[in-house]
This record gives sequence, structure tokens and C-alpha cells, in this order.
Amino acid sequence: MMTKEECTEVVLQARGAAKHYRTAAGEVRAVADADLSIAEGEFVAIMGPSGSGKTTLLSMLGALESPTKGAVLLRGRDLSRLRSRELASLRRFELGFIFQSFYLVDHLTAFENIRFPLGFNDQLKPAARDARAVELLEMVGLADRADHFPRQLSGGEQQRVAIARAMANEPAVILADEPTGNLDRHSGDEIMRALEDLNQSLRQTLVVVTHDENVARRARRLILLEDGSVVADREIGGQSTVER
Ligand SMILES: Nc1ncnc2c1ncn2[C@@H]1O[C@H](COP(=O)(O)OP(=O)(O)O)[C@@H](O)[C@H]1O
Ligand SMILES: [Mg+2]
Repeated sequence: MMTKEECTEVVLQARGAAKHYRTAAGEVRAVADADLSIAEGEFVAIMGPSGSGKTTLLSMLGALESPTKGAVLLRGRDLSRLRSRELASLRRFELGFIFQSFYLVDHLTAFENIRFPLGFNDQLKPAARDARAVELLEMVGLADRADHFPRQLSGGEQQRVAIARAMANEPAVILADEPTGNLDRHSGDEIMRALEDLNQSLRQTLVVVTHDENVARRARRLILLEDGSVVADREIGGQSTVER
């Protein structure tokens, strides 16, 4: 019998990936040897108590932090062996990040925030970049907010701009760190619906860190962290319990 890893392509893999920090108070083991394979098109939720290593693990998977020990591989390529130029390109084109506090550029409009990462995309001519930014705004339901600055948008709208920005160059993987953490329930549902749609329609691989059961329930797989260790990793229902 073929295992899941043999029949679907593995996009991201952690092999004994650990992250230790030296602090004045001693060594902090933020993540202990993590072994994970994430296949193309998966929707994975990562849960665990505060301080259990969720952000650190996600940062290693997304090439924002390098492991102290072990390795992280993107499509079989060891991230720690890449040159800085290759890493920059990978962060621009293959990985999309969504953070709890959005991190939009204050002095750029919604359109400009989304257009920005497209500026690095040599495969598109300037006019095509503009068109793509408009398409992305439409995708997240903000076509009529194109000229609004972040401060003129609600939290949910800002997060939708951040999703569109993360999607701009069609990355293979979207990594989201508590994307609904600063939102009310209604906006949070909207964000998760937007992410789910991307996962289902574009087969976008989605890894979402959350401490919200309602968010996690939508995933197909749940990884639990405790004290920096993966203590559970299992398939779950992937049902949206929220009324549409
Ligand atoms: N840059 C750092 N330096 C020292 N300790 C850190 C650093 N980043 C995270 N930690 C510690 O590592 C542990 C895991 O942190 P984190 O990954 O942010 O957890 P979570 O996202 O689950 O709340 C915590 O004990 C935290 O204090
Ligand atoms: Mg965190």
C-alpha cells in the first residue's frame, strides 16, 4: 500500500527541526526535534498553549528562522543550504505569510499594498501586475476599497488585504500565524472562509496557527504542540461548523 507521502507531493518537510534560543536566563528550547511532512493542497492547523512553540515552528517552515538543529525542506530543498538570494526569492514567490497584526504598509492604499510584491514578479508586465492586483482585491471582496488606506479599513478588511498580498505571486504555501487573533468572530469567520476557498479552489497549501477551535475545526489535519514538542498529529473532519 502506498502511504500518503508517496502518492501526493510533499511540499514542506521538517526533519528533526529544533530551535533553541540562548537567553540570560539560560537556554530556551522553543521547538524540540520536529518531524513533519506537509503535502501539496493540505490544510493543516497547528494548535497549542501560548509559548508552546507555534510561531517558532511556523517561522522555521516559512524560512523566516533557521533551525538550530535538523532541517526544513521545501520541495526537497534544504532551506539552510540556499544562498541568500535564493532565500529572498523563495520568500517572495513560494511562501506567503499572514500575521496576526496584518503588517500592511500604512502609507500605501489597499491596491498598492497588494501591488507591491507583484513589483518583483518579472514574469508580469506592469499592466498585468496592475490587473492582477485588481483581481486579487476582487477575490477578497474589496474591489470597492482599492483606494482606502489601512486606517480606513476595518480589522477584517485589513486582514483580507494581507491575504491578497500574501497570495499575489501565487505561492505554493500560505503560512498564517493566528490570522483571526485580532478580529471579532464575524470577521474571523470571513477570513477563514477566504482562506478555505483558496485551499479548495486553488489547492493552495495552508498552514494555520491558531488557538481558536472554530478555526482549527475547518482544517483537515491538526498538529498539537506542547512545550516545543509535537504531541499529536492527526487527520480531522475539516468541516465548517459556521453558518454560511
Ligand atoms: N527570540 C527569542 N528568544 C528567546 N526566546 C524565545 C524567542 N522566541 C520565542 N522564544 C521562546 O520560545 C518559546 C516558544 O515561543 P513561540 O514560538 O512564540 O510560542 P507560541 O507561538 O506557541 O506562543 C517561548 O517560551 C518563548 O518565550
Ligand atoms: Mg505565537
